[in-house]
Amino acid sequence: MKIRKVLVTGGAGYIGTHCCVELLQSGYDVVCADNFSNSSAIAIERVEQITGMKVTYRETDLCDKAEVRALFDEYVFDGAIHFAGHKAVGESIEQPLRYYGNNLLSLITLCEVLAENRCKNVVFSSSAAVYSSINKPPYDEEDSIDPCNPYGRTKVMIETILHDLHASDPDWNISILRYFNPVGAHPSGLIGEDPSGTPNNLMPYIAQVAIGRLAELKVFGDDYDTPDGSCVRDFIHVVDLAKGHLAALRKLEDRPGCMTHNIGTGHGISVLELIEAFKRGSGVSVPYSIAPRRAGDMPVNFAATDKALKELGWKAELGLDEMVRDTWNWQTKNPTGYQD
Ligand SMILES: NC(=O)c1ccc[n+]([C@@H]2O[C@H](COP(=O)([O-])OP(=O)(O)OC[C@H]3O[C@@H](n4cnc5c(N)ncnc54)[C@H](O)[C@@H]3O)[C@@H](O)[C@H]2O)c1
Repeated sequence: MKIRKVLVTGGAGYIGTHCCVELLQSGYDVVCADNFSNSSAIAIERVEQITGMKVTYRETDLCDKAEVRALFDEYVFDGAIHFAGHKAVGESIEQPLRYYGNNLLSLITLCEVLAENRCKNVVFSSSAAVYSSINKPPYDEEDSIDPCNPYGRTKVMIETILHDLHASDPDWNISILRYFNPVGAHPSGLIGEDPSGTPNNLMPYIAQVAIGRLAELKVFGDDYDTPDGSCVRDFIHVVDLAKGHLAALRKLEDRPGCMTHNIGTGHGISVLELIEAFKRGSGVSVPYSIAPRRAGDMPVNFAATDKALKELGWKAELGLDEMVRDTWNWQTKNPTGYQD
């Protein structure tokens, strides 16, 4: 069965908007559903600007079954990509019930309504945060799981639910994608990451220091057992990541069951290397100071990517220079994000 009409939950968010662009430009029919708890409808207008196409969206809380059913009363979907959820690690430690509530309930509600409509194709946004720090990088999909915060635990619980769902009914086709560290923006500079408040992720933090919205970056630890002492991560361009979802949707057409893939580049880049690359690419200095190590930070974390290449035919194409170029382009064109 060909998948053509796709429900994109969380479609107004950072990754959702980039995925919508790729889906629309590849001929998919897209409906976005978002409650705009961490995004704005302006992001959807920007997707329309990039693609020159009208984007259908409905303000929907994925935890509200009546609202989700209303979407399926209006449209016949072939599959869903589930981006909707809360994603800030620190916030999840402070507000665990909000994280377990929203992330689990939205997934369960979506799957219940997908089942009611006999639409059993779903791609889910998981995270490298599920892996245990006892693993040796590169992390492969069979490595130990032991997240160290509630956010990561919501992802493990959802992965378990999805495996159980497939075990109960083999008609389900499920793609679990474990993202490493998405960065960058669409090369148009029209969409990008727009964190509310102080950014939780490194790249938007660097970009906001570079543009003068934040005074200084703190690098947590320079005494790790890594080449320059700072932590090493697998940064992946958000456009590559978005394309990974198209590869996953195509694979679901072969009825593969429930599958899990890392979505990363397979290359580690240190925090200090990223700062240097940003200075080089933007021509702007990024003042930073060294702070003590942060509890829970793994020294080195990057993906094994062979499984995604072999089974999905997908690999990352864009490098560090493009990640920096596109982040800076987005930041300079939208110094305060989607707000004017
Ligand atoms: N950005 C990352 O670093 C990263 C890394 C690994 C995994 N992920 C996962 O990818 C997904 C997308 O992340 P993102 O960076 O685009 O985040 P984002 O916050 O920009 O997008 C998520 C979107 O979901 C919406 N949303 C949240 N709860 C909802 C609900 N109950 N009903 C409807 N909409 C709801 C938000 O308004 C937002 O537009 C998330 O599930 C996140 O956990 C992100």
